[in-house]
Amino acid sequence: MTSTSETRTSTGPTTGLSPLDVVRAAVAVEAAAEGEPQQMLPAEAYTSPEVLAWERRHLYAGSWTCLGRVDELLPTEGKPTTQRAVMVGDVAGLLVRDGAAEQGTVRLFANTCRHRGHELFGGEESSQRRSITCPYHAWSYALDGSLIAAPGFRAVDGFVAEDHGLVELPVHLWGGWVFGHALHPLGSPEVPSFTEHLGELDRLLSPYGLGSLVVAERHTYEIAANWKVVAENYHECYHCPLIHPELCQVSPPDSGDNYDLPGAWVGGSMVLRDGMATMSLTGELVATPLPGVDPRKVEYLHLLPNLLVSAHPDYVMAHRLVPLAPGRTWIECSWMVLPGPDGEVPSAAGAAEFWDITNRQDWGACESVQRGLASPHFHPGPFAPNEDAVAHLVRTLGRAYRTGRLVP
Ligand code: FES
Ligand SMILES: [Fe+2]
Repeated sequence: MTSTSETRTSTGPTTGLSPLDVVRAAVAVEAAAEGEPQQMLPAEAYTSPEVLAWERRHLYAGSWTCLGRVDELLPTEGKPTTQRAVMVGDVAGLLVRDGAAEQGTVRLFANTCRHRGHELFGGEESSQRRSITCPYHAWSYALDGSLIAAPGFRAVDGFVAEDHGLVELPVHLWGGWVFGHALHPLGSPEVPSFTEHLGELDRLLSPYGLGSLVVAERHTYEIAANWKVVAENYHECYHCPLIHPELCQVSPPDSGDNYDLPGAWVGGSMVLRDGMATMSLTGELVATPLPGVDPRKVEYLHLLPNLLVSAHPDYVMAHRLVPLAPGRTWIECSWMVLPGPDGEVPSAAGAAEFWDITNRQDWGACESVQRGLASPHFHPGPFAPNEDAVAHLVRTLGRAYRTGRLVP
């Protein structure tokens, strides 16, 4: 090992560099040294609008961002929702279901009209119409993106409707979630492979049957911390003895191991204490045990950039992160369970009760870290041995800051 904490402290009061350059300089120092990163990213990674803008474009739009559950984004019950505005990082998209209900093809388009660029939908609007009509001059598109009407253009020589279809973007369904890519159009060789992005995560989570689980409980939070502060906190239980008394009663904070397997994800597992059947205030099951999963284990797996999947013996909790500003993150927390044979959805209230307490303890810590990072006296501190998954995350992010790619 050639590096020491001194040689890895490269940023300091660097002048003349942009915040993104400061972050890149710091991760280059880590990358040049052997082994995992030894310390946190510089403060600029958590506080700079320029760094967040780069992340939203390259880590979110440019990889595979989880947009939510497909049956919530495009519900098929009653009159099906055919189209919904979504944000993929900083790029506005239009999610569409083309064709009859569940058999229909889910597509993603750039939410920008091919006439003069008006958004086809604003905000998070949705529609049940069978075509897409721009609200500015009424150009209309079929649900496959082709232009079907452009008022006044019938007599325009040389106007070819086929040249003006919507720009289609790559989209994938996995585990009941929708993942979108919005930096390169569908078919571009620049689109990262979704299979490589998932890597071994697919195999680890396949016993949980994610696609057949349904959301039983949902909380949303908006917190005053950078999205990576939330992710880093998720990846270590070094803090558990101090801030999570309820969690420590059901799961020893030093239990389990972290994975280092292919894919754009980071995480590990923990085990339940003897006599504890799941993570709940009493340790008793809150829903039907999921068949074929290890009844003693809880998996804590973060599919980058924004989905944290915590898989329990009887339910799966998912945090979906949406960065709003360098120091603000919106978090959707869902508890998903296996419906009964009659379709009845068990309540996951015991899981939501336990994890809402734990979430709020975590958010308090994350907000305090964010305030501390803003101090002129902050310097990146070293990782403890049991913060190895945080180091793995910083290594993965560091590679992306240098190469633009989460998967090598
Ligand atoms: S910008 Fe959409 S119809 Fe004119
Ligand atoms: Fe925590």
